[in-house]
Amino acid sequence: TQRTLVLLKPDAVRRGLTGEIISRIERKAGWRITALELRTLDTDTLEQHYGEHQGKPFYEPLMEFMASGPVVAMIVEGERVIEGVRALAGPTDPVAAAPGSIRGDFGVIVRENLIHASDSEESAEREVKIFFPGRA
Ligand code: GTP
Ligand code: MG
Repeated sequence: TQRTLVLLKPDAVRRGLTGEIISRIERKAGWRITALELRTLDTDTLEQHYGEHQGKPFYEPLMEFMASGPVVAMIVEGERVIEGVRALAGPTDPVAAAPGSIRGDFGVIVRENLIHASDSEESAEREVKIFFPGRA
């Protein structure tokens, strides 16, 4: 089985959507949440997490948004969970995301797209270490 690092972004927390989103993840057969924490991210953590985007035009506003309030960080484990949570989330641009997906149902702005989920096994291991060093 796999594990993935999921963040419910500050817009999801502010809008009271964490229960709804967690519920969609929990209902997938065999998946388990094995770590969960509400916390406000500091610059160091965010640079580690989104460093690949440094220099892109959306980077600075993304960092500011991600530090604008608490996020819910989770480890989710289960069969094909990396691809599976990305599928539940939908594409990065919420307006292009199909209704039924988390971003498609609740999002409009590209930056404020509610959820992050690791995009590969390598990213998942790297990101779990950043957010839950004790679980590496
Ligand atoms: P994450 O799970 O958050 O990593 O999203 P993603 O993998 O779907 O997208 P990506 O890693 O390419 O970008 C990271 C985040 O930067 C996105 O989730 C958006 O919040 C933001 N972002 C990406 N591309 C754009 C863009 O073109 N414009 C703006 N404003 N924000 C962007
Ligand atoms: Mg990404």
